[in-house]
Amino acid sequence: MTAKHTPPVPSVQVDEAGGTVLLRTTRSAYALRVDRAAGCVLHLHWGADLPQEDAVRLPVWSEHDNSFAGRWDGVEEYPVDGGARFGVPALEVRFADGSGPLEPTVRDVIVEGDDHAVVRLHDRTRPLAWDLHYRVAAGGDVLERWTEIHHTGTADDGDVLLLRYASAHWPLPQRPSWRIGSVHGGWSREGRLDRSGLPVGETVLGSRRGHTGHHANPWATLDTGGAGEEHGEVWTVALAASGSWRLTAQRTAAGRTGVMAGEGHEGIELRLAPGGTQRTAVSLALYTDRGFGGASRAFHHHLRAHVLPHPEELRPVLYNSWEATSFAVTEENQIALAKRASALGVELFVLDDGWFRGRDDDRAGLGDWAPHPRRFPRGLRPLADEVHRLGMAFGLWVEPEMVNADSDLYRRHPDWVLHLPDRTATELRNQLVLDFSRPEVTDWALAWLSQVVADNAVDFLKWDFNRSFSEAGVPGPGPDARRVHVDHARGVHQVLDRLRAQFPHLRIEACAGGGGRVDPAVLARADQVWTSDNTDAVDRLAIQHGFSQLYPAGVMSAWVTDSPNPLTGRAVPIPFRFHSAMAGVLGIGGDLTRWTEAELAEAGRLVQLYKDIRPVVQQGIQFRLLDPGEGPLTSVQYLDASGERAVVLIWRTSPAFGTPHPPLRLRGLAPEARYRDEATGREWAGATLTGFGMPLPELPRGDCASALVRLRRVDGRGRNT
Ligand code: DGJ
Repeated sequence: MTAKHTPPVPSVQVDEAGGTVLLRTTRSAYALRVDRAAGCVLHLHWGADLPQEDAVRLPVWSEHDNSFAGRWDGVEEYPVDGGARFGVPALEVRFADGSGPLEPTVRDVIVEGDDHAVVRLHDRTRPLAWDLHYRVAAGGDVLERWTEIHHTGTADDGDVLLLRYASAHWPLPQRPSWRIGSVHGGWSREGRLDRSGLPVGETVLGSRRGHTGHHANPWATLDTGGAGEEHGEVWTVALAASGSWRLTAQRTAAGRTGVMAGEGHEGIELRLAPGGTQRTAVSLALYTDRGFGGASRAFHHHLRAHVLPHPEELRPVLYNSWEATSFAVTEENQIALAKRASALGVELFVLDDGWFRGRDDDRAGLGDWAPHPRRFPRGLRPLADEVHRLGMAFGLWVEPEMVNADSDLYRRHPDWVLHLPDRTATELRNQLVLDFSRPEVTDWALAWLSQVVADNAVDFLKWDFNRSFSEAGVPGPGPDARRVHVDHARGVHQVLDRLRAQFPHLRIEACAGGGGRVDPAVLARADQVWTSDNTDAVDRLAIQHGFSQLYPAGVMSAWVTDSPNPLTGRAVPIPFRFHSAMAGVLGIGGDLTRWTEAELAEAGRLVQLYKDIRPVVQQGIQFRLLDPGEGPLTSVQYLDASGERAVVLIWRTSPAFGTPHPPLRLRGLAPEARYRDEATGREWAGATLTGFGMPLPELPRGDCASALVRLRRVDGRGRNT
């Protein structure tokens, strides 16, 4: 008998006659119908995979027809402001004559390759067209959507003002109730996970700060209330944008729910000149029936497969001197730290803030990017050379988007900062924001960054951003004076892209006072992100838990710093501090000149241990076994892609006498395989470890106890046996 060859099903299938477009990911389907008569694109399905023969027959939901109803409110793929529509519009405009409402007409549906569909619409009489792009990212469950809005008129038509310009509207299935999950927080307390019932009305998450923000992150999960970490249906919507943004979850009284994602916030208008095009940011979304953990893993996979510049590289163990020396950096003290760091096995030494002219504290210097003559009288090159000689890569901190009023740059170009002529320019951390939507500013930044990288053999940049926007406008009466909320971040992306193209070896850590600019757009041009300025190993567990909901451990930079922690005053033993940071990209940030020989020896052993587990942590898949805050224990498991190695980290922040710790049920192991605990030599079947659970290793007594378990498959069929 010959094997039957079934040709692969294309990711995009279009039924020309009925107008149904079916998008299929690895394990889900998304269907819509282009209704040419009504001039709109209607949502049919987003969830479990289904065959095309059924998709073409799916009915379109519509609201009860009466003179107060918006017939398709909540089911349009890209609702515009106009006609009998009363929900949140994705597209709202003002034409030169002051009128706004749009009347969409379908132009055509185009399929590009077998993974990309474009539905092209235009206004019936006005000079505006908009194309809805849908792309299925290969090998996973993520769908990408974005919109291109075109002014199709001439100078006689004048400009069109875009008031709302969402990337996408993601309608959800009809279910009796919904729960929305997101993270919130603030500086040094990022990533607090919250899941609460979605009320009828509009629930808006967003940033009005000009950057992604510590206070929210551009993603939300939606579930019907019953999903858990490893079971149930979850829909995730995210936005790849680094400026101001808005995610609006809308639940209508008539029973429809959907999420709108886009850049900008209310009042941020964009002017479109005749012939011009505005391409929105990309919105990413996925459906899974494998719970929140499954949704996170699918997103991690997507970011690695389609977004990160170098997912195949292991991130180096870094040392950063910020908490050790603050602004008081000198060539001598950095070399002293570098020597100690290299002895521990550190691979990358990062010189943080304070290295440039005028920078003795945070009141001066930003903008003047030449080495501080007193601190580095010979320039930075001797330090870079010494770091290289010690066998480490050399990293440097920069904050290109900022300027202190006390700087030569500001004295030369006071007009380059965000400001309005008759308003006080508010200083935060004594600094002002340079307007990166202006080409002369981005050209200047690229020029000095290139010079600094080339002159000092810089291998790694930590790109920081330490304040939110204020007085964000363009001096003058332009109608879209505040578009800098969108365009500044795009300017930053452009500089990063150009810099990377110029220096292919350069690696970048994105930072904004910790986790103030973490998003899928930044991750397309950064190799890792500085997760939080809070380096307290206990606080970090909750921050990292929130981070992991969307972003993989392989980009989550985490340092071991001094004890007591300078921010919280909490004393934490070395193993716990390391185990907490080993859950991501390990770094060290303590003052190593004050660590005892015994502490340095222990740290060196833990760095070696991290190097052993690093491929599993940074490139494996992650299971959140026990959430912080839910009980006395927190635990995370990583499994490498081949399924041969597993790493389990367990933390107990404070003992609760008499509280039993049940065996830890692991995930993702082959039931028939046998796994050996590399420390004890004890062996267990995968079925036992996942079904009964792994007996907990003995934890030290007292607060902040932790353990790390390494398991290796040893049943003769694994590569490593
Ligand atoms: C904020 C960052 O998050 C810190 O790690 C450090 O680089 C400081 N800025 C320096 O000013």
